[in-house]
Amino acid sequence: MSMFGRRKIKKAAEKEFLISKEAPFAVEEAYKSLRTNLIFSLPEENCKIIEVTSSLQKEGKSITAANLAISLSKNGSRVILVDCDLRLPTIARKLRIEQKPGLTNLLFGMNKMHEVINHHVSGIDVIPAGDLPPNPSEVLGSQNMKTAIDHLAQHYDYVILDTPPVNVVSDAVILSKHASGVIMVVRSGKTALENVKDAVDTLKLANANILGFVMTDADEKKQYYDKYGYTYKQKKG
Ligand SMILES: Nc1ncnc2c1ncn2[C@@H]1O[C@H](COP(=O)(O)OP(=O)(O)OP(=O)(O)O)[C@@H](O)[C@H]1O
Ligand SMILES: [Mg+2]
Repeated sequence: MSMFGRRKIKKAAEKEFLISKEAPFAVEEAYKSLRTNLIFSLPEENCKIIEVTSSLQKEGKSITAANLAISLSKNGSRVILVDCDLRLPTIARKLRIEQKPGLTNLLFGMNKMHEVINHHVSGIDVIPAGDLPPNPSEVLGSQNMKTAIDHLAQHYDYVILDTPPVNVVSDAVILSKHASGVIMVVRSGKTALENVKDAVDTLKLANANILGFVMTDADEKKQYYDKYGYTYKQKKG
């Protein structure tokens, strides 16, 4: 198969995982139930900065973050998705927008807020990662970052933060201090319990509020769920 052919297939596959008019009914329904469960697991007020993370790479964090954002906006909420993966950002590519100017350009004062916000066709607003800095953890932990997120929280009903994996770099843990709650993505058949435990322990040590778990790639023995399965478990206690 030619390189060109492979690329085309990958692009088509990624499109399939985003909620759109062509998305299978079951996918949209799965995200609706994630949305409902999330809304129920949030404390009543001032709790709308949601961080999406996982223990390892390629578990479906970014797609879950994007689809959750789109699903919340379909419910009538004003939603902004922020790509806080300043190492391997994928939100811009997934949503077909430019990667810069973005978050880092805003934080370093190179661009104004309105210049880094993209109004996406899906109905959500999106801030891509921007130029990649040499010190992502410091940037994400900075006072400027906190100020930016707090500002967004005043103008949107939900601020969804896409992040790198917890067991690989400290960015998601650092960012959890700015978030009202954290959703953990677990990829069925790939993530070992040990990995999830490590990530949860690390987040708890930082006093993160873990809202629950989303399982991607789950085998629900149903036609669509085989391929696009999402389940959501609320944490106990
Ligand atoms: N529910 C799912 N079922 C099957 N494949 C999925 C699912 N969600 C995502 N994928 C696929 O897994 C790959 C990784 O997805 P994604 O980029 O969202 O993961 P990630 O956890 O954000 O990765 P990274 O650690 O690189 O940021 C993509 O190719 C995507 O198409
Ligand atoms: Mg990602």
